[in-house]
Amino acid sequence: MLRILVLLLWPYLACSCPVSCECLSVGAVKCVGPRIMNVPRQMPSHMYLLQLNATNINVINEQSLQNMDLMLRFSLTHDPLHTIHPLAFHAAPQLKSVKLSFNKLSTLPPKVFSPLADLEQLHLDANQLKIIPAEMLTGLTKLKDVDLNSNRISRLDAGVFNGLSNLTFLNLGGNSIRELPPTIFHSLTRLRRLLLYTNRLEVLDADLFSHLAMLADLKIHNNRIARLAPKVFWSLGNLEILTLSSNQLQGVPEKSFYHMPKLVKLTLYSNPLLSLPVLLMGHTPFIQEFYLYSTNLTTIPGNLFANMTGLLRLNFHLNSQLRELPAELFHELPKLEKLSLKFNDLHILHPELFSALTSLSLLYLNDNKLKSLPPTIFQNLKVVSIIYLNNNELKTLPGEIFHSNRVLGKLFLKANPWHCDCQIEATPASTTTIPKPSPAPPSTPRSSIDHRSLPFYDKLVFEQGPEFVHHNHHQGWVYVWTLPLDAAHAGFLMTSHILLVVTGALLIVATMCGMYRLEKVMRELRVENKDGPYTVNNE
Ligand SMILES: *[C@@H]1O[C@H](CO)[C@@H](O)[C@H](O)[C@H]1NC(C)=O
Ligand SMILES: *[C@@H]1O[C@H](CO)[C@@H](O)[C@H](O)[C@H]1NC(C)=O
Ligand SMILES: *[C@@H]1O[C@H](CO)[C@@H](O)[C@H](O)[C@H]1NC(C)=O
Ligand SMILES: *[C@@H]1O[C@H](CO)[C@@H](O)[C@H](O)[C@H]1NC(C)=O
Repeated sequence: MLRILVLLLWPYLACSCPVSCECLSVGAVKCVGPRIMNVPRQMPSHMYLLQLNATNINVINEQSLQNMDLMLRFSLTHDPLHTIHPLAFHAAPQLKSVKLSFNKLSTLPPKVFSPLADLEQLHLDANQLKIIPAEMLTGLTKLKDVDLNSNRISRLDAGVFNGLSNLTFLNLGGNSIRELPPTIFHSLTRLRRLLLYTNRLEVLDADLFSHLAMLADLKIHNNRIARLAPKVFWSLGNLEILTLSSNQLQGVPEKSFYHMPKLVKLTLYSNPLLSLPVLLMGHTPFIQEFYLYSTNLTTIPGNLFANMTGLLRLNFHLNSQLRELPAELFHELPKLEKLSLKFNDLHILHPELFSALTSLSLLYLNDNKLKSLPPTIFQNLKVVSIIYLNNNELKTLPGEIFHSNRVLGKLFLKANPWHCDCQIEATPASTTTIPKPSPAPPSTPRSSIDHRSLPFYDKLVFEQGPEFVHHNHHQGWVYVWTLPLDAAHAGFLMTSHILLVVTGALLIVATMCGMYRLEKVMRELRVENKDGPYTVNNE
């Protein structure tokens, strides 16, 4: 009632707006600038939001927040703030949101936030806090959102989050936490997002997440975790995102990712994984992205992806010791659109390896050690549009290998030891050289098989130029190889170029010289003509 009255009367209350502040009629006040040394006084009385940014305030004292009875959101960020008086928030117990991000706080009075019984949001990220007092959040049962990211916290008290059953978001990332008490998260039964990335965690207790049935997002990447307890994630039936990348895992317990039917994204990359168990992934029909690169895997179980039928993008590269893949590895991935196998150590590929990837549009096989490819390997990739085969050890390709790939638009073949002698050609004398990237010349396919459109001959795009392109017709198909520019060719090109330039210059000089002489002759002629009659007359 009081608020409505105030709102109605506001235009007549004639509150001033402090210097360096901007007061919006709805009651939001924003103050910016280094000239502000204290929380400004004389605020509009209906102010509900106060935002102070990049000021010179370094203390919030006992009086700072007085007479701001309607203020619900208080934000003081990017300031040199280092001290908060223990009773500072007694003046504004109605606050719902306190943001003190990007300041210089290194300690907090233990019960400084205790008066804020309605507090829903507390942001203390990007400060220098080493210790979070055990009773700092006690009784703040309405808290939904706590951000302690980018501080210097190395340990947390087991009871620090007790009773926070309304909490949905907790960010502890970017600290130096080595260890978490096993029961620390047990009260957080409504938590949706838990961010623990970039700390120094070494172990995760088997019970750590056991009460977080609502959790959707768990980020633990960039820690030092060397071992996972079996079943540590089993209670997370609502999990959608799990990041475990950049840890020290050499193995993962059997069935680690069972009982998370809603999983959408899983990352395991940059772990020194030596092997994976035969049973690892439970039924995860909604998974879209899986990242398993930069590991030390030498083999991979053939059924690893069998339960990930929804996968759209699979990044499975930079496993520098992975030589071979089981034939059936990708057989349950009908939706896969992007498959990256680049920078592995693959020597050969099984003819059936890609046979079920009917949705694949992007395939990276570059930077492996492939010496040859089975003729039917790409046969079922009906919608593949880009294939990278560059930086392998291919000398030749089977004639019909891209026959079924009707929409193949780009094919990268450079940096292979191609045998570009005439054996590769079916129609001799069709080899042309194209000195720089440009569409291959249009030519009517003289197809001896059928008249379906050629898959890539007019769309092929070359990486970098200038390079020589060998361009062969074979049974109505056009094959193109790009070759690195070797010294002899480069020399020839350079010589031609110089010759052209010199010839051009000579021509210009010759023309100018000619013009000059022509004009001189003309002038002489004119003089002769002018003088002529007089001479004649005078005679
Ligand atoms: C606050 O100030 C910082 C530093 O000057 C600036 O980067 C940031 O964008 C500002 N934030 C807002 C909300 O004005
Ligand atoms: C959660 O918040 C609601 C109001 O938002 C409150 O009524 C309830 O008491 C809180 N839960 C607990 C356990 O305090
Ligand atoms: C796939 O998931 C089901 C159910 O979670 C499980 O019983 C089965 O063993 C899993 N298969 C593989 C290959 O992991
Ligand atoms: C993994 O491979 C890297 C380099 O390839 C090596 O330095 C590291 O020691 C290996 N780790 C293990 C656990 O084998």
